[in-house]
Amino acid sequence: MNSRLLEGKIVFVTGASRGIGRRIVERFASEGAIVYANCRNVGSLDSYSKELSQKHSTEVIPVYYDVTDSSKSKETFSRIMKEQKRLDVLVNNAGIMEDALIGMISFDLMQKIFETNVFAVINHLQLAARLMRRARIGSIINLSSIVGVNGNPGQSVYSASKGAVAALTKTAAKELGPDGIRVNAIAPGMIDTDMYRSIGEDKMAAHLGMIKLGRIGTPEEIADASLFLASDLSRYVTGQILGVDGGAII
Ligand SMILES: NC(=O)c1ccc[n+]([C@@H]2O[C@H](COP(=O)([O-])OP(=O)(O)OC[C@H]3O[C@@H](n4cnc5c(N)ncnc54)[C@H](OP(=O)(O)O)[C@@H]3O)[C@@H](O)[C@H]2O)c1
Repeated sequence: MNSRLLEGKIVFVTGASRGIGRRIVERFASEGAIVYANCRNVGSLDSYSKELSQKHSTEVIPVYYDVTDSSKSKETFSRIMKEQKRLDVLVNNAGIMEDALIGMISFDLMQKIFETNVFAVINHLQLAARLMRRARIGSIINLSSIVGVNGNPGQSVYSASKGAVAALTKTAAKELGPDGIRVNAIAPGMIDTDMYRSIGEDKMAAHLGMIKLGRIGTPEEIADASLFLASDLSRYVTGQILGVDGGAII
């Protein structure tokens, strides 16, 4: 048991109801972490959390709120501090994607995407940093995207939000490094989740040609990269944007 990579670590993962976030929670629990798993739909993670807790002899604790609700976020970090006295890892995973060509971008769309993908990420990072500073150790992992680096037609707003996450990651790593807090991002490529499948079969087929490894990725593969960044295996790694994209960008 003691060889588990996250044994006893206190972890908070946002957007854990499905897709990448769900697999990160499973992977981290299997490595012995005590995981606070966030999602919006109240009650939806109750039985699943119990199942995972039993299976891996740990605790998976659901926390239900919308990440854009700053008072609920604050309450959650206070609760973690009260219950665990520390936080070791934050995974800022919750995100939304909506496409619009440049001529069709509305202010509402910009606001909606930036509130979830950027403002909530900054807010959660700030709250986590306050807790981690006391212990002078911590790992913060943000979910960026290859489109945040390379752009993509129809995704000006989404790609700008993910580019902001990459820039935030580097700045926060510079600011928080002296406090022992590492900040990294993962830039997934095309990963088989509801979000990616929402683009439709035609676009998915067109993407395949870009991917050097010849297939789309799985959420488990992002969970594995997250495990590396969360654990001591990456203890000398900070400020990095780790592409996990099967070679879509080289
Ligand atoms: N899949 C890809 O190819 C890909 C590529 C690059 C980057 N990413 C990034 O990876 C992350 C996860 O993506 P995914 O593919 O797993 O997406 P997904 O299948 O759509 O799942 C998104 C998760 O985020 C949650 N979420 C969204 N808005 C939220 C909010 N306001 N408050 C709380 N939870 C919220 C969703 O919860 P609900 O069930 O309540 O909606 C869901 O659990 C995102 O940041 C995404 O931008 C994904």
